[in-house]
Amino acid sequence: MILITGATGTIGSEVVRQLTGRGVPLRAMSRNPSGPHGVRADFDDPESLRRAVEGVDAVFLLTAPATATSRHDLALLEAARAAGVARVVKLSAIGTGDTTADGRVIGEWHLAGEEAVRGSGLEWTILRPSSFASNVLRFAAGDRISNLTGDGKQGVVDPRDVAAVAVEALTDPRHDHRTYTLTGPDLLSVPDQAAELSRVLGRVVGTVEVSPEHLLGSGMDASAAAEVARGTAWVREGHNAVVTDDVERVLGRPPTGFADWVRDHAEAFG
Ligand SMILES: NC(=O)c1ccc[n+]([C@@H]2O[C@H](COP(=O)([O-])OP(=O)(O)OC[C@H]3O[C@@H](n4cnc5c(N)ncnc54)[C@H](OP(=O)(O)O)[C@@H]3O)[C@@H](O)[C@H]2O)c1
Repeated sequence: MILITGATGTIGSEVVRQLTGRGVPLRAMSRNPSGPHGVRADFDDPESLRRAVEGVDAVFLLTAPATATSRHDLALLEAARAAGVARVVKLSAIGTGDTTADGRVIGEWHLAGEEAVRGSGLEWTILRPSSFASNVLRFAAGDRISNLTGDGKQGVVDPRDVAAVAVEALTDPRHDHRTYTLTGPDLLSVPDQAAELSRVLGRVVGTVEVSPEHLLGSGMDASAAAEVARGTAWVREGHNAVVTDDVERVLGRPPTGFADWVRDHAEAFG
């Protein structure tokens, strides 16, 4: 029995889909569950977590990006340990724990959770994906996509590949005690992604420069916005121009390119 947290989100819903396709018994956890395997639980409600992990062998741990991420990771781990769960696969982020030239830490959101997972006594795998291809959908407004990272390039990864690696890690002990950095095949800036969108969709998609301060106006709290600002500056300065072969080593095939992700989601762009 596998518990998928964040099960209605981008990665979690894909992990549920792929595990269901393999006939693996699972529970799909969120605050607003849906589908036949849905269970309602909240990282801020320990009793609901206790119920969610009962009888579970492995947990996919995905906590939503906010200042509560570490607290949520620790709460789920505590419940999992108490219930005798054997394995946890945590979704973290590329660059977690790196420091900038002036000593500021990148990815603080995931740092305590990663350390707790490694020290939990459970079998564990940590996945550190690069920027999701699907971010362009989140940040699209008409035919323009928001650009927080200037010309900074990233190994943009298809969320379906991240989920496929998670499925392997949840079901195969050869991935225990490993930390994988998951990227796509190409280094792309946001303007590069807009150019690919234009090419594949056959119409002009542009970018609009957005400053991290803009996030405060969008309702994000100040400390979360500060963390995003640090991360986006780090990308802008070129520190996330990283491509790895971890997806290929785990899946035995090359990662999916951005153009293929766009083709498969063309209808979402209207
Ligand atoms: N976007 C990127 O480029 C990127 C890159 C690297 C790493 N990441 C990491 O990926 C993660 C986000 O993944 P995603 O995009 O798949 O997430 P998402 O689409 O935003 O979905 C978040 C999920 O978490 C659930 N959730 C939120 N608050 C909850 C709570 N208090 N209790 C229980 N469930 C809760 C949501 O369901 P309900 O609302 O129904 O509860 C939903 O299923 C973050 O940890 C982020 O740091 C993202």
